[in-house]
Amino acid sequence: MADPSGSGPDFPDVQLHVVTGKGGTGKSTVAAGLALALASRGRSVLLCEVEGRQGIAQMFDVPPLPYEERLIAHGTEDTGDVYALAIDAESALLEYLAMYYRLGRAGKALDRFGVIEFATTIAPGVRDVLLTGKVYEAAKRKRRGKNARVYDAVVLDAPPTGRIAQFLNVNSELAGLAKMGPIKAQADTVTTLLRSKRTAVHLVTVLEEMPVQETADGVHELREARLPVGGVVVNMVRPRDLDTEDRQRLLDGTVDRGALAKQLEVAGIDADDVLVDTLLLEGHDHAQRRTLEDAQREIVRGIGVPTYELPLLPEGVDLGGLYEVAEELCRQGLA
Ligand SMILES: Nc1ncnc2c1ncn2[C@@H]1O[C@H](COP(=O)(O)OP(=O)(O)OP(=O)(O)O)[C@@H](O)[C@H]1O
Ligand SMILES: [Mg+2]
Repeated sequence: MADPSGSGPDFPDVQLHVVTGKGGTGKSTVAAGLALALASRGRSVLLCEVEGRQGIAQMFDVPPLPYEERLIAHGTEDTGDVYALAIDAESALLEYLAMYYRLGRAGKALDRFGVIEFATTIAPGVRDVLLTGKVYEAAKRKRRGKNARVYDAVVLDAPPTGRIAQFLNVNSELAGLAKMGPIKAQADTVTTLLRSKRTAVHLVTVLEEMPVQETADGVHELREARLPVGGVVVNMVRPRDLDTEDRQRLLDGTVDRGALAKQLEVAGIDADDVLVDTLLLEGHDHAQRRTLEDAQREIVRGIGVPTYELPLLPEGVDLGGLYEVAEELCRQGLA
């Protein structure tokens, strides 16, 4: 844990927190928890998603989000607001055209003729340019416009580890293609933010072999692409309720059966041989899993970035669970 003393956040100057990870490990949960955590530190936050999944709306139990920033968690005197935005490439392109070419109504016509859909599906890279472009716009916004809010931080619930480096790097490829002009300028500025200290890419994992390997590979790939790696969030950690000696005894099969039966009796349980055997077998499996988890935890430490651990919430992640995640992330210093 990076900051068990709670002496302050590890990424105070980061404006854009990108949260990636293997599918299903808890990217959306951690992104939402991080947004709430930053808000609890008094910052106004925008939580974005780009995969068209409406995950944020589900987590916060609100209707599907339009292409419009919506308040999802009210701030108080001491805490900031959290807004949310679901970004899709078509809307981002229409907005872009309207902004740069004043194509308001003409843009809508293009949309009707399917041009917008065509433009955004013709090359997957174009989609990513539009999605990252919108995230950039929100993160760098300086002036409060008619409908424009200024945020202290943007949290992006990003594509999974396997695609993250390519997704974030799409602008540098574009800048390479377009040698000059407004497209190059725009692509260059997005790349500058994404590669700067104002961005941090966090990776979520669970303590299993495949996700941990993918995390290690992801960190390597991000570094190769010169993208700033933030921390690794180890999610869904089971309670560590066995000390080393008990664990070894369970693994070796040297648990004192008599003592166990007696303890069960004291607890008012009628302990026959079958029950004791079953318990020992379960204990053995549990001890084995713990040993595997510890090995994976060591590998995560070896990656050499700050790590954070979130417990497996027995009730799953409801709104209360998100606030628990947020509190834990603050306590450990991710926010
Ligand atoms: N710490 C936790 N304790 C209990 N359940 C969790 C925890 N973190 C996430 N979950 C649950 O695991 C599931 C997957 O989490 P989540 O949707 O955040 O993952 P994801 O990486 O965003 O998935 P996807 O790749 O599908 O976008 C969800 O049902 C979520 O509620
Ligand atoms: Mg998700």
